[in-house]
Amino acid sequence: MTQKLNIIILAAGKGTRMQSKLPKVLHTVGGTPILQRVVDQAKALSPTKIIVVHGYEGAKVQETIADESLIWIEQSEQLGTGHAVMQAVPVLDSDAQVLVLLGDVPLIAHGMCDRLIQDSADGLGILSCYKDEPAGYGRIIRQGKQVTAIVEHKDATEAQRTVNEVNTGIMTMPAERLKAWLKRISNDNAQREYYLTDIVELAVADGHSVNATMVLDEWAVAGVNSKLDLSNVERALQRTQANKLMQAGVTLLDAERIDIRGTLNTGKDISIDVGCVFEGDVTLGDHVTIGPYCVIKNSVIQEGSNIQAFSHIEDASVGSDCRIGPYARLRPGAALTANNHIGNFVEIKNATINNGSKVNHLSYIGDAEVGKGVNIGAGTITCNYDGANKFKTIIEDNAFIGSDSQLVAPVTVKQGATIGAGSTITQDTPANSLTICRAKSQVTIEGWQRPVKKKKAN
Ligand code: UD1
Ligand code: CA
Repeated sequence: MTQKLNIIILAAGKGTRMQSKLPKVLHTVGGTPILQRVVDQAKALSPTKIIVVHGYEGAKVQETIADESLIWIEQSEQLGTGHAVMQAVPVLDSDAQVLVLLGDVPLIAHGMCDRLIQDSADGLGILSCYKDEPAGYGRIIRQGKQVTAIVEHKDATEAQRTVNEVNTGIMTMPAERLKAWLKRISNDNAQREYYLTDIVELAVADGHSVNATMVLDEWAVAGVNSKLDLSNVERALQRTQANKLMQAGVTLLDAERIDIRGTLNTGKDISIDVGCVFEGDVTLGDHVTIGPYCVIKNSVIQEGSNIQAFSHIEDASVGSDCRIGPYARLRPGAALTANNHIGNFVEIKNATINNGSKVNHLSYIGDAEVGKGVNIGAGTITCNYDGANKFKTIIEDNAFIGSDSQLVAPVTVKQGATIGAGSTITQDTPANSLTICRAKSQVTIEGWQRPVKKKKAN
């Protein structure tokens, strides 16, 4: 783009129809606040300025978006989209082309905005869309082909309400003309608001042509006004993402039952069962299979690994050919190198598990370094925390930890050592020997009877 571009994002409204204390623009779509999505697309257009008009819970909005490159302007009273744009006028560059984006249109893509700007030369341009159910949107009124006005749903006549071409709210115009038009708009309408859309009639009156660039994908420009809209937009985004995955060769057992709240990078021949949620940045290598109802966040799963049902993986890395779950939990810092088995009800946190080692049942391994070929029996716990500080457990190659053992850190189980079941280990254990630490004798009481339930006295 050769021209100087200033972008104004309108984000001052409470969003009353959302029935929420949280400002509308901070509700999330695909795990990202709506306004953040709009800001990201605005940035992709490399503008000279991005001005965000804030109002309701403005401090919270600024704190959440936390971006120093944005210019924040307050609209203390929300008197309409035209009034919101007026607040931004003082910071506009007089020689800039202006693009107005709505902070409640989450799926807008920068390519569409770029096309609108190109199509509109240096005149007034609006992004429009055909909707089967246009209720609530401003209608694009044309005489012949020429756009002559935008009429808000609430102000529209019955005849105007039958128009299916709607205003997406996204507009572009030269800064100087915008300033002049804004001075002439009034709030003489059904909502007693200053409508930005009224500048269309003013442009026409001044003899300027108005361009409407139509977007085919109605979801890309859908506004969010209610929780129903939010859900519909979320589903549309998820379906689009699912389609892209399938185009890339991923098998989805049900394309309607996968949620990606971030970025999912995939290799070849991956299969994902129903109900999985991917958050943040997740990478799945070739031939990875993900069972039903797994939650995977900011993690890498390398080739050939199999994540079974109901597993939860966060800030972790899984090497190749591992088998995780069902019902396993890998917490931040869990690093499995290759060929590891992590079974049901096992929690791993801040621990490296080297090649071929297994933790198959009901264990907690935290702040640990586990060597190669180690077998950790059911119910093993690394006692890493004394109530104040955390300590490390080292389990060297080929060790065998008997079931129901506690390893009280800091402690090292040396290479090839065996720990007898039910031991509480507080000192380093020597290599290649058996260490047991439990009550010495097993006692049997002959003739012992189980207690019987006492009868209640009436
Ligand atoms: C607006 C358009 C409508 C269009 C629709 C598309 C106007 C008058 N109407 O209607 O033609 O079809 O978007 O989604 O422009 N805002 C402020 N300050 C205000 C009022 C609104 O910052 O005083 C912000 C809101 O926070 C929101 C955006 O502007 O992010 C749109 O406002 P909203 O009230 O949702 O407008 P719609 O009724 O949807
Ligand atoms: Ca809206």
